[in-house]
Amino acid sequence: MENILVLNTVDSTNDYAKHLAKQGAAHGTAVLAKSQTAGRGRMGRSFLSPEGGLYLSVILRPQRRAEELLALTACLAAAACDAVEEVCHIRPGVKWVNDLILGSKKLAGILTELSLTPDGFVDYAVCGIGINCNTECIAPELREMATSILLETGKTTDIGLLAQAVVRHWSAITDPTVYLRKYRSDCVNLGKPVRVLAAEPYTATAVDVDASGALVVLTQSGEERRISSGEVSVRGLYGYV
Ligand code: BTN
Repeated sequence: MENILVLNTVDSTNDYAKHLAKQGAAHGTAVLAKSQTAGRGRMGRSFLSPEGGLYLSVILRPQRRAEELLALTACLAAAACDAVEEVCHIRPGVKWVNDLILGSKKLAGILTELSLTPDGFVDYAVCGIGINCNTECIAPELREMATSILLETGKTTDIGLLAQAVVRHWSAITDPTVYLRKYRSDCVNLGKPVRVLAAEPYTATAVDVDASGALVVLTQSGEERRISSGEVSVRGLYGYV
């Protein structure tokens, strides 16, 4: 049985898990909350976390260098798809770098935060995932881009069971090449035009995800670029993907 601490409500399960990690909590220790009052997303965004969703953070202690964070994040996304498929019998797609997609809309987001040792290795990674499971009503400002398992399938999800599956799949990640292969086949961007929201945004075609987790794109002038910055987002030209 997975080592999951279950809370009713918390500010952010990532913050709670960080606190446990600093005290030495083991690889695979997890925090699950029914709701969050200050859920956080990538790039300093907030993550709306009402009841009905899964809000989970898992402490991992991979023997990896900080530069491997992007590949780890991609592995987490593919392994989260494995967990959703196992429990909900539906496999989401992935939008680079770490959004899970159903029906062209965002189903889940992943936020990975690292603490490093002085020699540049990961001491711990706090890996958080928010999945819209049994959410019947998406906030009006997110309706165009977000969905839930309930809205897409008409079925309710056993959140405890799904959390256990995510913890098990994440804790078992070892060989990144296996997950990167899955990631490429799950990635909804490949072969499609994307808008790269860099400091100077541009349009390109996504062609591959390389071994470091970087998105390889071809610009309109035929130049190949690798997007590896966590500070860059991609969007579809006509919608979220
Ligand atoms: C994103 O979409 O930008 C990432 C969202 C990550 C949300 C999860 S919910 C559980 C964990 N706790 C947080 O505060 N954030 C992550």
